[in-house]
Amino acid sequence: MSELHITKDLPIGFVDSGLGGLSVLREAVRVMPNEDFIYFGDSANAPYGTKEQEVIRELTFHAVDRLLDYGIKGLAVACNTATSAAVRPLRNRYPELPIVGIEPAIKPAVMNNHGGRILVMATPMTIKQNKYHKLLEQYEAGAEIVSVPCEGLMEFVEEGNIDSDELDTYFDIHLTPYLTENTETIVLGCTHYPFLKHHIRSFLKGRNIALIDGSLGTSLELKRRLEEKGLLKDTENPGSVVIQNSSPKSEMIELSYRLLNMPID
Ligand code: DGL
Repeated sequence: MSELHITKDLPIGFVDSGLGGLSVLREAVRVMPNEDFIYFGDSANAPYGTKEQEVIRELTFHAVDRLLDYGIKGLAVACNTATSAAVRPLRNRYPELPIVGIEPAIKPAVMNNHGGRILVMATPMTIKQNKYHKLLEQYEAGAEIVSVPCEGLMEFVEEGNIDSDELDTYFDIHLTPYLTENTETIVLGCTHYPFLKHHIRSFLKGRNIALIDGSLGTSLELKRRLEEKGLLKDTENPGSVVIQNSSPKSEMIELSYRLLNMPID
């Protein structure tokens, strides 16, 4: 266990396998506009969602260590896959660091459900994990919840390909088989997918299906955890966002800021 020096003037750290966690960060910036943030996207090692748990754990620890070297006062594991594989050991290693993870927003989906089917789009790894099965067990008595493994979907976001016709082909193959007449909600259980919301809506052609994700809930929880420890800044000045990425492609940073500044719909 290592000693951390945590003070309120440090930034809040965010990690993800790539650019997906930016969908959580943009909510966090809205919720805590006076805070500084540092985001690390591990695009060089993406996707995480088709890797083994041990590998994901190691990559996540490595990413978090980078942020800790920089200096952070709290951490959002802004990746459903990394959360299920690594959040518990991370909390064990850094008990003094406020750490929040993200999980598919099944709870709010069930709470707002009117008897229809709930689809959960997520990476194959998230769906395989024990943590996910426990979550399902908690809520499946109250609704029909169907998991939709989406291997290969995050890559569209990583490539900045968020509105292409190829997405329709992808959804035809991977989503259409699960879409029944009574489908009421789609949970976007991977942080990359909120950037595809607009395209998913057009694919659904005006059908009345709610698209929900956990980014606001996670950001509010992060704020609460920092507040509880007296770690929020006392300033009225707007905060800053630093984005780092493990990919050698320089355009990843530019794409990251573009995604970060996309309006939340
Ligand atoms: N953004 C990640 C998530 O929320 C996963 C993408 C991946 O690396 O497969 O699950």
